[in-house]
Amino acid sequence: MGLEFVAATAEDVGVVVELHCALNREMAAYSEVFPPEALERSTIEYFVDLQLGRDNFCVWLAMLDGRAVGLVSTQVHSAPIPGVRYLTGTIPNLYVLPEFRRQGVGTALVDCALARFRELGVDHVEMHYLVRNKTAQRFWTSHGFKPESMKAILRLKPPSRNEGTKPDSNEE
Ligand SMILES: CC(C)(COP(=O)(O)OP(=O)(O)OC[C@H]1O[C@@H](n2cnc3c(N)ncnc32)[C@H](O)[C@@H]1OP(=O)(O)O)[C@@H](O)C(=O)NCCC(=O)NCCS
Repeated sequence: MGLEFVAATAEDVGVVVELHCALNREMAAYSEVFPPEALERSTIEYFVDLQLGRDNFCVWLAMLDGRAVGLVSTQVHSAPIPGVRYLTGTIPNLYVLPEFRRQGVGTALVDCALARFRELGVDHVEMHYLVRNKTAQRFWTSHGFKPESMKAILRLKPPSRNEGTKPDSNEE
């Protein structure tokens, strides 16, 4: 597959937003507390704009024959410990269009992110996935990521509108 990876710029906002809209729709199905507003294009445009403007944030697009078929985003933070240089890389988003899955695109995007982290001297990489997202669990495990913490939630208000949405059929 002739994949190319390009760092998204302000000119790519439209395609990044499209991919994020699709990603958020899938993620909402795995979460009980995904705000419905996070599915609205205007909200996603707002966040993509913010992200692309940050120095420590980068979005990489996987291009196939001129079409963006996936994205990965990377962010780097330094530990707030005086006198210590310790860099953490995070992968806030990873998405591949459904028709291009299981062909190595996700792996190639992660390799692109890891290469970027190595260049920047990152010490370790972390990311979050939703526990109901079994595909993500298998994917990250197959790339050597090991769970280290668990986020637990307690609802204090009634369910949001997305209550009742079902995860993809790949959930077991
Ligand atoms: C997770 C995701 C990025 C994987 O992308 P992909 O291009 O299909 O990944 P790859 O083809 O590189 O798969 C690499 C390995 O991950 C595992 N894997 C990926 N998808 C899988 C699935 N549906 N079931 C089981 N294992 C899976 C397999 O070990 C696979 O290797 P194999 O195909 O040789 O068996 C893609 O499924 C996706 O965009 N999902 C929706 C968004 C999402 O969940 N993002 C991650 C949230 S943090």
